[in-house]
Amino acid sequence: MKTATLEHVHDEARQGEVFLIDQEKQAFSKHFYIESYGCAMNFADSEVIASLLMKEGYGPIAQPENAQLILLNTCSIRDKAEQTIRKRLMHLRHVKNHRSGVLIGILGCMAERLKEQLLEEEQLVDMVVGPDAYRTLPDLISAAQEGNKAVNVLLSREETYGDIAPIRLNSNGVSAFISIMRGCNNMCSFCVVPFTRGRERSRDLPSILSEARQLVDAGYKEVTLLGQNVDSYHWVEGPTATPITFAQLLAEVALISPKLRVRFSTSHPKDITEEVLQTMSRYPNICKYIHLPVQSGSNRILQLMNRTYTREWYLSKIARIREVMPDCGISTDIISGFCSETEEDHQQTLDLMLQSRYDLAYMYFYSERPGTLAERRYEDDVPEPEKKRRLQEIIDLHRIQSLESMQKDVNRTWEVLIEGNSKKSDAEWQGRTTHNKMVIFAKTPNTQKGDYVQIQITECTSGTLKGIQVGEKIA
Ligand code: SAH
Ligand code: SF4
Ligand code: F3S
Repeated sequence: MKTATLEHVHDEARQGEVFLIDQEKQAFSKHFYIESYGCAMNFADSEVIASLLMKEGYGPIAQPENAQLILLNTCSIRDKAEQTIRKRLMHLRHVKNHRSGVLIGILGCMAERLKEQLLEEEQLVDMVVGPDAYRTLPDLISAAQEGNKAVNVLLSREETYGDIAPIRLNSNGVSAFISIMRGCNNMCSFCVVPFTRGRERSRDLPSILSEARQLVDAGYKEVTLLGQNVDSYHWVEGPTATPITFAQLLAEVALISPKLRVRFSTSHPKDITEEVLQTMSRYPNICKYIHLPVQSGSNRILQLMNRTYTREWYLSKIARIREVMPDCGISTDIISGFCSETEEDHQQTLDLMLQSRYDLAYMYFYSERPGTLAERRYEDDVPEPEKKRRLQEIIDLHRIQSLESMQKDVNRTWEVLIEGNSKKSDAEWQGRTTHNKMVIFAKTPNTQKGDYVQIQITECTSGTLKGIQVGEKIA
């Protein structure tokens, strides 16, 4: 399993496996198989879907070959993401053709974007279910079993799935996602998310807190609060109550247990508040890491993107974060080759990167999405080879910067939460610092997954730190 990098949009699939004991497995006579693509929100949704299906008597299964129900929870963010799903469907053809009664469902953002059209284009598909329609899955399955094509892509202004206890898929038993809001009210001109996920709405505070408490009781040590724009979290208990802000929510979750690490994603630069920064700095268990996507360093392009901030505003936010929390990890998303981007605009992006000194960046070239503001208003006029050349320059600069960021940690000692065996060796642990940097170190006696240890960093690459444990594990 790829480590869950919070904001990274996965183009490859992740299979949803639940670890059940044999007795539990035998309890199910029918099975579902689910693959998730895209962002963390989709992975969190798959856990809600698993919960809904298990209530209907479907057990989770790790291979599509033995499932009655094959589900792909899809992403539409770039054209490549959709192409990946279409290729995957071709591969699933043999599973469907070899057994009768197998249903294939397309869920998530691609289902929402393409709706019935998906049924016409992909003969294999029996169900198309949008992100707000998962509660109707049992009815849709029944309809599909009767030979009807089943579609529900209604978006909701209220649905948060707040009352559904997610079944943790692919869990390491240490860290888990908690969805705190859905949808997005921003209209970044390049982005399909407002169309696939609908209007923004916040989940109620009590259900978020109870999910976090349950995770703590089950031995989890880290939660990541998820939303497309977490800083606009806004929940009001009743007509007379004062609204709960994201900063207050963060504090409430942090207070559940000092041993629970709290992370969040994603912040929009225009919305992250001083109150959030102060709350982060006040609670040691709120991780000192902020994902603050900039998208471009050119004011002209930022305006065309409808990001509603300037590079100066953005840089002042970065400066303020570092003032309040000098060691805070900062990461970003960057798009190269947006409509009308010139070499001069591109240089502005590289220059902003030099000033921001990102620890981590997710970088993409622009992919025009049907129906978005940019598609309707602007011409996608930067040739693909040029988009890719600019992207490569951005990636090359980032590689230098991430190595520099890692080198700063050599000889320092950080608290690390052990997440499991390192990918390369069972003799090593891997875990992360509060700043979200991956650390690999040799196992010592008496340590296990979920422990906090102090690690002195001895060496690094641009992606990982290596170190040795100092002292006993932290009780
Ligand atoms: N809500 C988050 C972003 C979610 S999408 C935010 O506002 O930051 C994750 C990233 O995908 C975006 O930050 C952007 O960098 C990238 N992205 C979105 N639409 C894209 C497109 N049409 N082409 C290329 N990259 C895109
Ligand atoms: Fe897309 Fe912008 Fe919303 Fe992020 S804030 S999901 S980039 S519209
Ligand atoms: Fe993709 Fe939908 Fe997330 S488009 S990035 S899965 S919100």
